Amino acid sequence: MKTKTLKRHFLKICFFAMGLPFLVNSSANAQTTKLTLDFTKNGPAVSPKLYGMMTEEINHAYDGGLYAELIRNRIFKDNKTKPEGWSLVQQDTTTKASIKLIAADPDNISFDERRHAINGALTTCLRLTVPKGGSKVGLANEGYWGIPVKPSTTYKASFYLKGTGSTPPRRFGPQGAAPTQAPAAPVIADNTAGPITVSIESNDGKTVYASGTIDLAKSTLWKKYELTLTTASDVKPTADARFVISTDRTGLYYFNLVSLFPPTYNNRPNGNRIDLTKMLIDMKPQFLRFPGGNYLEGPNFADAFPWKTTLGSIDNRPGHKGSWGYRPTDGIGLYEFLMWCEETGAEPLLGVYAGYSLDGDHIDAGPLLKPYVDDALDEIEYVIGDVNTYWGAKRAADGHPAPFKLSYIEIGNEDWFDRSNSYDGRFKQFREAIDKKYPQLTCISTIADAQYPTQKVTGKSPAVLDEHYYRSSWDMWENAHQYDKYDRNGPKIFVGEWATREGAPTTNLNAALGDAAWMTGMERNSDLIIMSCYAPLFVNVNTATSTAPKAWQWDSDLIGYNALSAFGSPSYYVQKVFSENLGNKIVSMNAENIPTQLKPLSKRDSINKVKQISVPTIFYAATQDDKTGAVYLKVVNTLGKVQPVEINLKGISNVSKNATLVVISSKKAEDTNTITDPVKIVPVTTKIKGIASVFKQKLAPYSVNVYQLQTVK
Ligand code: AHR
Repeated sequence: MKTKTLKRHFLKICFFAMGLPFLVNSSANAQTTKLTLDFTKNGPAVSPKLYGMMTEEINHAYDGGLYAELIRNRIFKDNKTKPEGWSLVQQDTTTKASIKLIAADPDNISFDERRHAINGALTTCLRLTVPKGGSKVGLANEGYWGIPVKPSTTYKASFYLKGTGSTPPRRFGPQGAAPTQAPAAPVIADNTAGPITVSIESNDGKTVYASGTIDLAKSTLWKKYELTLTTASDVKPTADARFVISTDRTGLYYFNLVSLFPPTYNNRPNGNRIDLTKMLIDMKPQFLRFPGGNYLEGPNFADAFPWKTTLGSIDNRPGHKGSWGYRPTDGIGLYEFLMWCEETGAEPLLGVYAGYSLDGDHIDAGPLLKPYVDDALDEIEYVIGDVNTYWGAKRAADGHPAPFKLSYIEIGNEDWFDRSNSYDGRFKQFREAIDKKYPQLTCISTIADAQYPTQKVTGKSPAVLDEHYYRSSWDMWENAHQYDKYDRNGPKIFVGEWATREGAPTTNLNAALGDAAWMTGMERNSDLIIMSCYAPLFVNVNTATSTAPKAWQWDSDLIGYNALSAFGSPSYYVQKVFSENLGNKIVSMNAENIPTQLKPLSKRDSINKVKQISVPTIFYAATQDDKTGAVYLKVVNTLGKVQPVEINLKGISNVSKNATLVVISSKKAEDTNTITDPVKIVPVTTKIKGIASVFKQKLAPYSVNVYQLQTVK
């Protein structure tokens, strides 16, 4: 062949290999695909905790997400240089009103900004200066990409407020400290006492959806004010709204901890969003892994998840730096995580900080690590100690005298990143201390032998290892059988974070097909895979506005939402139907003639001359309920065409002719759900007939299929 023709030929081959996912192995295709469920074998038990949830503060999962608080930057600590989320409202610009952060930088508080702290947590406040009265002047909060307005809804508002003149504070403080040169507070007639209006209104201020007043006392002392605001029944839902506190009188007004809550799940004070909680309950989660993820570790030692300062009244929660570029309020603190578990029927799976942070620094095992081990023991005591223990008593005082259920403790997060190899020693020290005080608990190692064979934990061999997988759908299809080969005499596996990463901010159908294939592998091997949880769970889908940044940091998430509504990704529905349709025994399965397709080579693969491999296009798993005789068969078709299968129920002579089939599918693999098209892809349930010990089915293109069969025992 001439060079040009050769080149063209080569390009053709590359294009074919890289761009045609539907290329099917034709020899296998010619024969009938058979799936045999072998009931003659007594399969092992399915792990009762197989499906759970993993959570952390990422993508505004809590603030601007599950946590129902509507006010952004409620204690004014989000940014030292400007009151993010807040703006001045003034009807008449000649009032020359202004707002200013007071004592924003703890390392540099000017003389005139001292003496406004409420306590050690509420040290920064916002001052509204009103030089001229007579018209509406106030401050507005934009919420987390809007304040959600819904009809017939009662919101609970509260805030600290003091109105005062501007007498300069007396000069005292650190010896010799020179006062910084901030301009003194202006001297304005103090007319602050009297009614203050609180409202939820449209962003242009023209429509007031709900409003009320409090009576500001004449005092130089901070006072907390509370009121409720109720919308009318004919209000049209909108998030194009703001929260405003206003006056028409001159003076200096100081605000702190401004809060607004809509109704919460179970009406729990400081509680969670109702719609999101219901979506979680629908997943039937068996456990909740918290508080992270990277959020547990923190960007540095000082900002690891500070569970102690997340307890008690929100008045005492300073928040902390967080790991994902914004400052969490810690409104969802340790107690709230535990209540979240209780509300969704999940058991807590507690991650304890193990002395390694995201900046790569670690604390050596030994005496220097002891305070961290002690801190973890305190934390466990808070969760399960009885009311006579120090931390058990604190939990009781916070509202929950009964200990929570707890079986697993995870020591750290992704400690394979710790290149110093210090985890072995750190894990041993934590585990020995926990085993001694709480022998009923199982400690999970964050380094898994199969993933990081050179970093194995050997000092005190763990009973459970946490594996994490973020993969493409191709990689999921390639690896969906990986657990079939694992050693059954080794540690159990917790797949503590995993996802097929396609689609943003939430996943698309192709990702869901990757997820479902992967989940069949976990389910077939659920004697070994004792727990698994998808990550990340939540994403606020708002893009950047002129005043607020884009809400998410991580693409491919499970549940999306804005201030008003929420939706499940196709992956969410896969989680839901897999969890809903689970027996207690694994049914052994055998497959014949599964069509395959060639996995495209990446650019790098091509350069490295990696041999192209074939991956299956049908994935399967089955479990049965040995009490009821129900059988749950899951079959995934990753191709965009119908695939026929023959299903053989070996050893079953009596099966109901009628069955239920739940299908998740769509025309295109890139199809997805969005905030404006939230239910494009949802499970569709139909009744099917003609079930026998051998029956034929046609799998819809791009489909996840769950068959509910009824056998007679
Ligand atoms: O899920 C997002 C992040 O991925 C987690 O915080 C971390 O544990 C992992 O690397």
